[in-house]
Amino acid sequence: MALLIKGGYIVDPSQNWEGIGDLLIEDGKISKLSKEIKVEPQMEVIDARGCVVAPAFVDPHAHLRDPGFTHKEDIESGSKAAVFGGFTTVVSMPNTNPETDNPAIVEYQILKAQKVGLIRLLPSAAITKGRKGKELTEFCQLKKAGAVALTDDGTTPTDEALLRTAFEWAADCGMLIMDHAEIPALSRGHLNEGKISALLGIEGRSRGAEAIAVARDGYLAQITGARVHIQHISAKETVELLKLFKEKGINITGEVNPNHLLLTEEAILKYGSLAKVNPPLRTEEDRKTLIEALAEGIIDCIGTDHAPHAPWEKDKPLDQAPPGMLGFQIALPALVKLYGEGLITLKRLVEVLSTSPAEILNLYPELGTLKEGTTADVVIFDLKKEWIFNEEINPSKSKNSPFFGQKLVGKVIYTVKEGKIVYSYKS
Ligand code: DOR
Ligand code: ZN
Repeated sequence: MALLIKGGYIVDPSQNWEGIGDLLIEDGKISKLSKEIKVEPQMEVIDARGCVVAPAFVDPHAHLRDPGFTHKEDIESGSKAAVFGGFTTVVSMPNTNPETDNPAIVEYQILKAQKVGLIRLLPSAAITKGRKGKELTEFCQLKKAGAVALTDDGTTPTDEALLRTAFEWAADCGMLIMDHAEIPALSRGHLNEGKISALLGIEGRSRGAEAIAVARDGYLAQITGARVHIQHISAKETVELLKLFKEKGINITGEVNPNHLLLTEEAILKYGSLAKVNPPLRTEEDRKTLIEALAEGIIDCIGTDHAPHAPWEKDKPLDQAPPGMLGFQIALPALVKLYGEGLITLKRLVEVLSTSPAEILNLYPELGTLKEGTTADVVIFDLKKEWIFNEEINPSKSKNSPFFGQKLVGKVIYTVKEGKIVYSYKS
């Protein structure tokens, strides 16, 4: 079976390819990338004129809620939402019920995703049993079952000695530690600690809570040799620390979520609990710093932090609603907006959604690239296409996004996994 993607604007940061061309896929692999490939009778042809053709997106951070919270999302609806957003590879978070802290659950998640057949699901597993911060999980067994990373996302372990051992074990079995870097004792609140929290009289979450945790993680990586990835960076201090650690040669990477690139704490006044997320939306100065850091490479990649919650859960006062917003659906529009404002290049847009997360997850050079001979995971998107994010189009079980109901610009038209079309946009 051969699929020819014809006449698109191909962007592949891994080989510095940018320009109009054709891409041929045979037997699930990229077989040829060139300026022009002749159509043969056995080829299925996608006309990609006017669209960008790039390596499919890789998400290091998503909550698929399966098992246990399947009223919010499950592996099937989550897979559909992922390919809708151009993602074929997704790292799921372990705050499921029961928690993803043992091999059986990792195996269940992988098998279910394979049955659905849309995405490559790479589960992360908890660092501590039940994500309670007391006892480490069995890292090497979890790795054998298919877990690609360790995180207690939603929270972070607070026992530094235990965490040091965790970093040592992770280094030993070659696993990546991902951290929700927010010291819990300093982040009991429900929005950024600042002028809006003062105005509303609601306890805020300190930016220091993030900086202290990131400093701890960086130095633990230094003394143990482990590799650490900072999840959902929200504050400018974290960017400063990340830069420092990288200059020191420490094995540290970081991601930013689309919501933190688009919104600030002011969104709480407009959207209420829908704009509640941990770590919280912060100030315009933070937002600008995050965008610059992403453009310059201090922040390595996008993580969507796709965090579905049911309407009746989000429809509560700020101090009672769960934190989180949808991410898969708005990732591309968020970056297209930055591109439109001249804040990032098209090459960097593709890099932060695909090549760079693939590298962090050790999937590159098989994924995150359009090099000949590699796995044919490809996304085709239209930078100008306007669409309304509404019930009709939304594949997710939940709709908790400040952008729900709004017009967005930038739409995935096709998502291809291993040479098979797993999503196509019907306008
Ligand atoms: O806002 C968030 N929601 N932050 C997290 O760390 C967890 C996530 C969730 O699971 O909903
Ligand atoms: Zn988190």
